[in-house]
Amino acid sequence: MDFNELKTPVYVIDESKLKKNLEILKDVQDKSGAKILLAQKAFSAYHTYPLISKYLTGTTSSGLFEAKLAYEEFGKDSEIHVFEPAFSDDEMQEVCDIADHLVFNSLSQLEHHRSIWEKKVTTNKLSVGLRVNPEFSTQEGHEIYDPCAPGSRLGIRAIDLPDKLPSKVEGLHFHTLCEQGFEPLYDTFKAFENKFEKYLKSGDIKWLNLGGGHHITRDYYDRDGLINLVKYIKDTYMVEVYLEPGEAIALDAGYLVTTVMDIVKTDRLPVLILDTSAACHMPDVLEMPYRPPLKDSGEIGDKKYGYRLSSRTCLAGDIIGDYSFDEEIKIGDRLIFEDMAIYSMVKNNTFNGMALPDIAVLKENGNCEVVKSFGYEDFKMRL
Ligand SMILES: Cc1ncc(COP(=O)(O)O)c(C=O)c1O
Repeated sequence: MDFNELKTPVYVIDESKLKKNLEILKDVQDKSGAKILLAQKAFSAYHTYPLISKYLTGTTSSGLFEAKLAYEEFGKDSEIHVFEPAFSDDEMQEVCDIADHLVFNSLSQLEHHRSIWEKKVTTNKLSVGLRVNPEFSTQEGHEIYDPCAPGSRLGIRAIDLPDKLPSKVEGLHFHTLCEQGFEPLYDTFKAFENKFEKYLKSGDIKWLNLGGGHHITRDYYDRDGLINLVKYIKDTYMVEVYLEPGEAIALDAGYLVTTVMDIVKTDRLPVLILDTSAACHMPDVLEMPYRPPLKDSGEIGDKKYGYRLSSRTCLAGDIIGDYSFDEEIKIGDRLIFEDMAIYSMVKNNTFNGMALPDIAVLKENGNCEVVKSFGYEDFKMRL
């Protein structure tokens, strides 16, 4: 099917752009010796897993459901890591059966579930680690995405760890970054090393996971810096090093295509009513908040015709942003939001009974394949 014939709204995953990111990540993997995992919380469009699994070591999951998806779709030889702030008693056995690496957020969770995970560790089928908090913030103005913010529940502080790690703990994990370059990682690692080095030197630790939030596939990212840091960690402490980016894997590798349904006059900019919604189909736009890139558009004033882009939902604040265009927009025009593969499909919802956008894959040969279509039943089944 041709891109222009797709029914809107539709997320379109761009396979060649995804591949370009994967090639960069594989190169970092090969040159540094790090193992790179897909953080499924950012991108779980599993139709692309056969492609992704050719390049990456495995996946990381936020709990049982993502872990099951990885187990079923990513390939049997890949690694499955799971971290959750608290695992439920009902799910722990199944998580342990699927995972090969499990990360606990507290000593009480570790001990609470010990009788289950320890059996798997004893048979070498599972390796268990602890998430720590280096207490080193590198983000400003984004407390919602800062696990090192004061009062954070994410990760154990150095002060709360015993001198010797609990028996059978083999790994340490930290995740503190969000959409960042190499320098904040370097500074964070130094803060981590300062506080937790005794554990790395103890000989008990076999792996260290540096979490996600690394924008490795951005042009500006200092990949040589990352490669050198990973080599330093491996050579100094003789541990396996993991990175678990989500965004970097599918950065700029997807679109959300929408149609203009109406144009409403207001006392300010005319408003385009679209068949998509920030609240339903790109919730990060409101949560973060940010103004998503839109193909062939500019800021207000850059181009002749300015509009506010909004939605057909009832939420007054369901506003995507203000944009300008060279040509006047007409009802029925199609607009293309860019960088819409990450934290979009995984976070959407059917508020107002809005239909979920279909999911299509733009193949390298230019053809589009619709891999998922949604309708009324998908709305009803959740209620
Ligand atoms: C523990 C953990 N690992 C990895 C990630 C992936 O981060 P990103 O998609 O920003 O690379 C997240 C994101 O919140 C996370 O919480």
